[in-house]
Amino acid sequence: MDNTNDDRKANADSSSPSGRLGGAYKIAILNGDGIGPEVTAQSIKVLNAIAQQYGHTFHYKEALIGADAIDKTGEALPSATVDICLDSDAVLFGAVGHPKYDNDPSAKVRPEQGILGIRKALQLFANIRPVTTYKTLQHLSPLKPSQLEGVDCVIFRELTGGIYFGKKSTSEDGNSASDECYYTRPEIERVTHLAFRYAQNRKKKVTLIDKANVLETSRLWRKVVQEIAAQYSDISIDYMFVDNAAMQMILNPKQFDVVLTENMFGDIISDEASVLSGSLGMLPSASVGNGTALFEPIHGSYPQAAGKDIANPIGSVLSAAMMLDHFGLHAEAQVIREAVDWTLQNNFVTKDIDPVNFYFTSTIGDLVSDYVSGKIPGSVHKGNIELRKSTII
Ligand code: IPM
Ligand code: MG
Repeated sequence: MDNTNDDRKANADSSSPSGRLGGAYKIAILNGDGIGPEVTAQSIKVLNAIAQQYGHTFHYKEALIGADAIDKTGEALPSATVDICLDSDAVLFGAVGHPKYDNDPSAKVRPEQGILGIRKALQLFANIRPVTTYKTLQHLSPLKPSQLEGVDCVIFRELTGGIYFGKKSTSEDGNSASDECYYTRPEIERVTHLAFRYAQNRKKKVTLIDKANVLETSRLWRKVVQEIAAQYSDISIDYMFVDNAAMQMILNPKQFDVVLTENMFGDIISDEASVLSGSLGMLPSASVGNGTALFEPIHGSYPQAAGKDIANPIGSVLSAAMMLDHFGLHAEAQVIREAVDWTLQNNFVTKDIDPVNFYFTSTIGDLVSDYVSGKIPGSVHKGNIELRKSTII
């Protein structure tokens, strides 16, 4: 398996727009719920454009997850889905969640078990969430432009441990409940090394977010991270309690470079950080372990928008770019990012960004893939694009 991957990478690295042999990749598609299918469809369009341009082959295989899987099979993560993912080079994930479960705390089977289960099954111990700000979207952020200038951080969230996966119990009378937060040294070490290595190619700063003044698990995190920090003399390390970090993320976000934190703090801080970029719909993520990696936008299933062709597909499209980076296809990933920048600069944006003059999800997908295919500027005229614009509120 490893050899095959190495061969693929070697092939991929030697590929170029000049037409050398590309690589073949198996990609599992987990559309899930709500807007999941429609945003993922745009990423597939863009990946197909990449395949065409660079001579790669992407084999897609769809599998069920979330509320959709519960409706069809009774389970949020059918074993067939796990098998398809394990047999793939990467997973492209949409979203899970449905209001009928959110308001039913006693539901035994929940859509979220799908994503938590696949993270565990693929041992995706690190979730990488880059937070980028865009000049053209600054007005959407509740923060002043001066505070947003120069914001560029990446959150490394531990993803398969902590309170999410600790022992859970509810007493027989239903009047008390507990969730255990449990961490082991190796669980902390592996994500910490990843974060430090990542920081070496950035601004060389890691901030550990914890609650070491109160929690035993946080004290273990701090001890282990201190030891590891000593092995990376080129990286500066900062420690911050999570309550202060929540405040600092708003007061002075540009102080952060690589943020390292445990599972639940990472969940919360990353949603908070997403407001810096102007829309939750913009942010991608990669979840990595030792095998198949998974790529997903950080937004949820946004059921109110499902099927309306109004959701922002950029979080998913940029997740597909992270997937290409993971395959070693950096030039290909970069073209996608360029295409996204081009759409933003030309105000080709969805309703979350411009509620009056907006473009449909599918139009943004078409534009990004047209750009990747080299059709822009040129055969695509702004006039033609205008026809696909909506001013319906
Ligand atoms: C996320 C989501 C998930 C999480 C939910 C859907 C279980 O909020 O990926 O951030 O809490 O990890
Ligand atoms: Mg979350």
